[in-house]
Amino acid sequence: MVSRYIINGGKRLDGAVEVQGSKNSSLPILAATLLTKGENILFNCPSLSDVDIALRILRFLGCKACVQNGAALVSCDGLNKYDIPDEFMREMRGSIIFLGALLSRCGRALLSFPGGCELGPRPIDLHLKALRAMGAEITERYGIIECRADKGLTGAPVALSFPSVGATENIILAAVLAKGTTTITNAAREPEIRDLCDYLTEAGAEIYGAGEGTIVINGVDSLNAVSHSIIPDRIVAATLMSAAAVTGSCIYLDGISRSHLGSIIPVFVEAGCEIICRDGCMRFKAPERLRAVSLIRTMPYPGFPTDAQAPVMAMSAVSDGSAVIVENIFENRFKHVGELCRLGADINVEGRVAVVKGVEKLYGACIEAQELRGAAGLIVAALAAEGKSELHGISYLERGYENFDLTLGSLGADIVKI
Ligand code: UD1
Repeated sequence: MVSRYIINGGKRLDGAVEVQGSKNSSLPILAATLLTKGENILFNCPSLSDVDIALRILRFLGCKACVQNGAALVSCDGLNKYDIPDEFMREMRGSIIFLGALLSRCGRALLSFPGGCELGPRPIDLHLKALRAMGAEITERYGIIECRADKGLTGAPVALSFPSVGATENIILAAVLAKGTTTITNAAREPEIRDLCDYLTEAGAEIYGAGEGTIVINGVDSLNAVSHSIIPDRIVAATLMSAAAVTGSCIYLDGISRSHLGSIIPVFVEAGCEIICRDGCMRFKAPERLRAVSLIRTMPYPGFPTDAQAPVMAMSAVSDGSAVIVENIFENRFKHVGELCRLGADINVEGRVAVVKGVEKLYGACIEAQELRGAAGLIVAALAAEGKSELHGISYLERGYENFDLTLGSLGADIVKI
């Protein structure tokens, strides 16, 4: 049954919510459990459809994986397969994150090619080039990727031409049990990379420079399962900040990490919001009328995240003045623009650049999400809009936002899922 959200916009938000655990940390850490002996406990693991697919992949491979009281329990001692069926790869292109760990653990991996997606072509050339450098033989035929490392993987120097998040994670996962040392230069520096490395280090891996541009990994013989708490989701925090901003609200976010929001907070401050962070809690207060943020450019971390572009565009749509938003990470990440315009936004896109002229008001309409973060942007806009909006395509949202209708509802938003 296809669900949708009905949102009556224009209501002020009020109160406090806990920010969920990070999706983009949970997925690589779930893949990393493949490398460990014993039972892992992952606290703060969000209940999301993408996480559910990762757990289903683990169970398909012969592992025990379930969620109890918000913690994922995973034991991979029974692993007995090295292939990931096409249906999982199609459901979640991020399933490619299992490649490095499977190859390391089994000496083989068989996956279908993730192909293009709603954000434009999403190649994995950097992942494959690095794994080849570490001794893997890889054939790509008829949409299937077959990887073998009959003698095991060997550490190698890997220089990434772009600091790809997924490629950095796959290389780390391949390297922690490889023979010798792997050095990744121009590695991604996202907090989720650091979280993966923290988990692996607790499990016994030897990793230096996590969260920096150069990561050095000395392969070890084995890793043991551990208990680990997933970091808070900085993109969900940014979305809730955008929701409070467009409704002129004052809210409190609990369980945040201020240091992960380094490029996000200044954007809201420029828009006139007051932000105070203390002990993992944020007080966020919006002005009566938002000021336009002149220029936002999405960049690899520590730059402004592409995943927060859509919610912040929704905020710009109701700000006083014009904003220029440049999308530098993905080719096709303005799909929400047409739907924002249906709500009355004034946005023009030219290639990777969007010019957003703030309007006084948006008006409720029937809109449809076409990808995860775009869906978040549309919710923000619908919360700002006068009257009723009907948002279709919320299965995209549920890939990354845990019970978002209930979260917003607890803050006083008029939103129901039907
Ligand atoms: C991850 C995040 C996603 C986020 C993105 C950028 C997860 C599960 N997803 O996606 O939410 O939007 O980082 O912060 O963590 N590229 C290549 N060749 C490759 C790999 C990537 O050309 O082999 C290109 C991509 O096409 C894209 C850019 O690099 O244009 C960034 O991709 P990458 O950092 O790899 O993003 P993901 O890991 O897919």
